[in-house]
Amino acid sequence: MCGITGYIGKNKNAISVVISGLEALEYRGYDSAGVAYTENNKLNIIKEQGKIVNLKKNIDFDIESNLAIGHTRWATHGEPNKINSHPHSQGKFTIVHNGIIENYLELKKELINAGYEFKSSTDTEVAASYMDFIYSKNNDILKTLNEVSKVFRGSYAFGIICNDDLNNLYALRKTSPLIIAKGENENYIASDVPAILKYTNKYILLDDFEIAKINSNEIKIYNQDLELIQKEILEFEGTFESSMKCGYEHFMLKEIHEEPTVFENTINAYLDDDFKNLPDLSKYDNIHIVACGSAYHTGLIGKYLIEKYAKIPVYVEVASEYRYKHNFYDKKTLVILVSQSGETADTLASLRKVKEDGIDTLSIVNVVGSSIARESKYVIYTKAGCEIAVATTKAYLSQVTIFAIITMYLTNNKSKEILDEINNIPSILENSVNIDYKEIANEIYKSKNIFFIGRGIDYALCMEGSLKLKEISYINSVAYQAGELKHGTISLIEKDTPVIAISTDDTLVEKTISNIKEVKARGAKVIFITSSDIDGDFYDYKINIKRTHELLQSIITIVPLQLIAYEVAKLNECDIDKPRNLAKSVTVE
Ligand code: AGP
Repeated sequence: MCGITGYIGKNKNAISVVISGLEALEYRGYDSAGVAYTENNKLNIIKEQGKIVNLKKNIDFDIESNLAIGHTRWATHGEPNKINSHPHSQGKFTIVHNGIIENYLELKKELINAGYEFKSSTDTEVAASYMDFIYSKNNDILKTLNEVSKVFRGSYAFGIICNDDLNNLYALRKTSPLIIAKGENENYIASDVPAILKYTNKYILLDDFEIAKINSNEIKIYNQDLELIQKEILEFEGTFESSMKCGYEHFMLKEIHEEPTVFENTINAYLDDDFKNLPDLSKYDNIHIVACGSAYHTGLIGKYLIEKYAKIPVYVEVASEYRYKHNFYDKKTLVILVSQSGETADTLASLRKVKEDGIDTLSIVNVVGSSIARESKYVIYTKAGCEIAVATTKAYLSQVTIFAIITMYLTNNKSKEILDEINNIPSILENSVNIDYKEIANEIYKSKNIFFIGRGIDYALCMEGSLKLKEISYINSVAYQAGELKHGTISLIEKDTPVIAISTDDTLVEKTISNIKEVKARGAKVIFITSSDIDGDFYDYKINIKRTHELLQSIITIVPLQLIAYEVAKLNECDIDKPRNLAKSVTVE
């Protein structure tokens, strides 16, 4: 997704601050970058296709500037090229934008009739033009931004500079995330916290339709009635270092190695000798879980655990389908939305649809104060800290941990048995994250197709293991219910086709081994990941998983799947933290 940064102040070089902020946001994925900055009361724009390193070649960092906005673009309208990259400028307005203005074409027609000309094919250039168009009538920046906020449909986070007021930086948002960060005689805007953590951890969350007017000494926030309002100043719990690599080759590996601590932090936030900081869920007799990607996969695990132990029916749907279909819910339905970023457009849209229908919502979110967190009736925060790698690992593990906690909470299970098992998990994870899977990765990294098979809750893990492999190593992979393979897909198995088989449920392990033998008989190269001590000649590699309570088993089993995907991607020399075509937060539909 696009990244926005902005700086206004007297202590630092605005251009350097904005560029380093964009570099901290590179994990969001982008295809071009640009910066607008003031110099001697003149506004200059430099932008380039490709990586930030291309942009930096054209910048003179010795220029003294105290106001700048920057942008990394993930193309939505118009191909990734220099003309379409941000910032965009029309008349007196220069802006950077994250989101989609859905009615930009009708506005463009109106503007062309008013004499505006366009160089790019972006909705953002239309937005800048429309701001200039309205401003030319009222000559008031705040009124202009207030008026356009009522006209633009879709999603937006804007960083805005107006030539008539170079003493202030303006910001406006709807749906797309934007924070205002507070320094000493300097202030910032950014799409996400890592962009400003080097300078400050104090920030304000702009709500939809609010306008920020920012100079070096003060931050003024106006509501939709253009009344000045007070906003809470939040403090980010992490540090700049915690959002950097700290010696690991990739953020993904660092974040996998944080999983023992993430598990502990998540448990400790909601459970000691009793449950705490959890909403009352006792009135609900059916649950919907709605999410995308890996978050959806944790919902499959949540379904299995809640249905088996709490005997409550659970329906799991991907958000991009759920938001458009007829759903069966009532006042005793709880809709749980799972999202690491808390900004995923389809998940947020599902939340808003359900709320319109008067149904209670609970979100499981990692980014504090994100849109999904703030708009849900209840929120349970995962305690994964800042997750930079596009491929989620520690946040996924924290989400699965939350579903285990919710299941225990719904059944009031705080037995010594489960608490003892919980106490063992961090050390088990500590061992797991340090196991070397290079040999297995070497066996499979040249494959064109890799299969994951499992039954029950292990099938949900197969889904996540397959996605991890696909998204960072670019190898085609598919997850299949082990019992289903023989109904067609087994025709794809040939000599040395890798099949990763997962079995941690003793009641199903015999059946799964039968399925493994079916693929082995057809030449498959089998990697058997299991907590079972059954041995034999039906596998080529066996990864032993420590056995624990079923509520916690997935938390351990996922680690080899994450590490195998990581090692395979390394061998394929992929951009592990920023895989092609992907973004950390999918704020477009
Ligand atoms: C997971 O590794 C992917 N990055 C992706 O599937 C992600 O889980 C999905 O886009 C949902 O994101 P969210 O959790 O921020 O809503």
